[in-house]
This record gives sequence, C-alpha cells and structure tokens, in this order.
Amino acid sequence: MSISVVILAAGQGTRMKSTTPKVLHEISGKPMLFHAIDAAQKISDDITVVLYHQAERIQETIEAYYSGIHFHMQDSVQFPGTGGAMKGVTVKHSKALILNGDMPLVTMSALESLMQGDADINMSVIKLDNPTGYGRVVINQGNVVEIVEEKDCIPAQKEIQTVNAGVYCVKKELLERYIPHLNNDNAQKEYYLTDIIKMAVDEGKIVHPVMVDEEEFKGVNSKLDLAHAEEIMQRRIKTEWMKAGVSMRLPETIYIDSRATFEGECILENGVSIQGAAYIIASHIKTHSVIEDAHIENSDVGPMGRVRPHSTLIDTHIGNFVEVKKSTLTGVKAGHLSYMGDATIDAGTNIGAGVITCNYDGKNKYPTKIGKNVFVGSDTQLVAPVTIEDDVMIAAGSTINKNVAQGELAISRAPLRTVKNFFYKFFGDK
Ligand code: UD1
Ligand code: CA
Repeated sequence: MSISVVILAAGQGTRMKSTTPKVLHEISGKPMLFHAIDAAQKISDDITVVLYHQAERIQETIEAYYSGIHFHMQDSVQFPGTGGAMKGVTVKHSKALILNGDMPLVTMSALESLMQGDADINMSVIKLDNPTGYGRVVINQGNVVEIVEEKDCIPAQKEIQTVNAGVYCVKKELLERYIPHLNNDNAQKEYYLTDIIKMAVDEGKIVHPVMVDEEEFKGVNSKLDLAHAEEIMQRRIKTEWMKAGVSMRLPETIYIDSRATFEGECILENGVSIQGAAYIIASHIKTHSVIEDAHIENSDVGPMGRVRPHSTLIDTHIGNFVEVKKSTLTGVKAGHLSYMGDATIDAGTNIGAGVITCNYDGKNKYPTKIGKNVFVGSDTQLVAPVTIEDDVMIAAGSTINKNVAQGELAISRAPLRTVKNFFYKFFGDK
C-alpha cells in the first residue's frame, strides 16, 4: 500500500450543539470518525488523524479500538483552517489522501476513484443545484484552476454549481512544498488547504476534478445530518445482509449495528434491534426484540425478548418479555416473562413463566448454575449464588436460596389456607 491517509478532525463542530465531539457521534453503533478510519485502513498503513478540539478524548477513544494510528495536534490558535490542520503533518508515502472526519458515508469505491490516474492532485467535486456554503471549483478545459471559498466569492463565482467535496489525493512532494507557504489572507482569516490548488496550477501542475456522489460526501454537521446519515448507513447495512441471505420483514423498521454479523439462514422480524458486535447464526429474532452484543445460534428470541451483552444462546427458545444478561443457555426453553442474569443453564431445562435469577444483592453480582433437564416452576426466585444440579424439579412459587442436589424436588411454599364464605362476609351478599 503506497498511499498515506490524513483525516482532518480538528474542527469544533459547534452546530452539533453537544458536549460530545462531533466526530465521536455514532452512526450505526460506531463513532463517525471510525467509519473514516475503517475505510482508511483498507487502503493504507500510514494513517494520521489531525485533532485539536477535545483532542485527548478523541485520541483515547481511537486508541481503545485501533493501534498504529498517528496523531497530529493542530496549532489551531496560530493556524486555524483546513490548511492549518495540515501544517506539520508528515506522510510516509509518495501520495496522500486527505479525508474529513465527519464524512462517514464515503465508500471504498469513491476513494479508489480519487486515487486513480496520474494527475498531481485529484480532488472530489459535486454538482449542486444549491451550492451555498461550499467552496466553488473553477474548471477550465477539464482541469481545476482554483477553489474559491463562498465567503471570498465575487458574485459571478457564487453562481458556480460545481463545488469542492473536501477530499483530495495529493502528491507528497507538493504538500511538503505548498503547506508552509499558505497564508490567511482571506475573508475568514483562515489557512485554507484549498489554496494549494492555485499554487499547483501556477506551477503548471494538473489538478483533476473527480465527480463523486453527493450522498457519500455530505459532511455531518448537525443532529439532523446525523439522523440522515444514519438512515443511509442503515439502508446500506441491511441491503448487504439481505444479499447475504438474511430475511427481513419490513426492513425499514429494523436496526442493525455496523459491527453485527450473521451466518446461515436468519430471520429478523419487524422492529428488531441488533446492537453491538452481535453474532447471529441460523436464528429467528421475532418482532421488537433487542439483541446486544450477544452470540445467538440455532435459537429463537421474542417477540419482545431482550438478550444483553456477554450472552450465548445455543439451541434455545426465548419467548416474550424474557431478558437474558451475561448468561449461557444451551438447549433451554424460557417461554415467558423471565430474567436470567449471570446464569449458566444446560440442555433440556425448562424455565417457567416469571422465573427470576436474583443475581444482585445491592453490592455484588452472583452466579446461578442450572444443570440438565431441570424443570423450574413458574414464579420461582433463584437467589444467587446457587447451583441446581441435573434432573431437579422446582415447584412453582419457590424461593431457592440453597443448592439443590441431583434428582430432588425443591419446594418452598407457605401452606395454603382457605376461609369459607370470606368473600360474602367481606363484601356482603351481592
Ligand atoms: C471545506 C473547504 C470547502 C469545501 C468543504 C466541503 C477549505 C478552506 N474549504 O470547507 O472548499 O467545499 O470543506 O465540506 O478547506 N478542520 C480541521 N481544522 C480546522 C478546520 C477544519 O481539522 O482548523 C477539519 C474539520 O474537522 C473537518 C474538515 O476539516 O473534518 C473540513 O472542515 P469544515 O469547516 O467543515 O470545512 P470548510 O472550511 O467549511
Ligand atoms: Ca470552516
């Protein structure tokens, strides 16, 4: 891989109106900056992220997931602007692709089109009916002559509909020579990266405009943009999984995290939410169930089931209003209204309606272990830590606070008392 990537992410993102840095807002479960890093990693081994606003927080977030990313701190006070962001950045390879951290929808094929050919600079352009806000691209005989920022445009230039989408592929040699010579002699008193275009043209270099898709290159600047980008990303993710064989009922009502994976024939009904790095194999997830970071294999969940992180379900049936957290269920049936937390439950075991693992005492969490072929009667409370061996029956309504040995019946029930004619004494004759 002989191209370097620089991702500009030092901007403040004021329009997000958030204490979270703009580039850390999530799209399909990942900070938008991660989408850019993922694309960069497919084409380069030399990736630099330029930071300034909340740099520490962004760097920490990146380093928790990626290694080998370089960071560059922009001197944003002395050198504001996209050109200022490039000051002091060193790249390893002979060409650099410059991306924006707030463009999570850019695809590999678009980046590849920008890397092709032998122009000195390839730059992304889009044609807009309403070019307001963008730098206008002046093109002459098929090549770019200069980019004029909206605030610096003379009236005639404002009419230009071909605008700068903000991504460039530039020869290293040009960056090294031009960036130190940028000035802030413009309406915004910023150092514009776009001024390198004119410098290149003045030297007789070729700047080639590459027409790109507006949808992919639209920067995310507000919560509205974020929601719109999410919709586009979701449509892409679901299209890919449907092509791979996942059935979806009313796909527009389904949410799938970008880190989730499916194998075999899976069915997702309407309203299902698949979050985190869920791994789902040959399973049926029914209406309005929520799956978070869980491994589900040859099982069915819901409607309205919830499987939380660090759970593994194999050959298991989870019915409505059942919640599973940090538990491993193999060959289990839990049809209705139940909570299994920090539990390990083995094959052939039936969990009745309303069974609750009492896994938390207000300070710590404790495990529940249930063996094979156990029948747990409805409305049982399992007070953890507790172990139920194989072939046990637990009577409905029991509170189990001691281990139960193989083959036993466990029952804890106050004896039933009946009072004759109490109803009539209390309410009188009807
Ligand atoms: C820039 C282009 C404009 C183009 C537009 C496309 C310049 C001068 N103008 O506009 O021609 O139409 O992108 O979106 O480059 N950033 C930094 N440091 C800074 C300022 C920005 O790292 O000091 C980063 C931002 O985080 C962002 C990217 O650069 O990822 C673009 O910044 P933004 O302010 O959106 O671009 P504009 O200057 O408006
Ligand atoms: Ca700006």
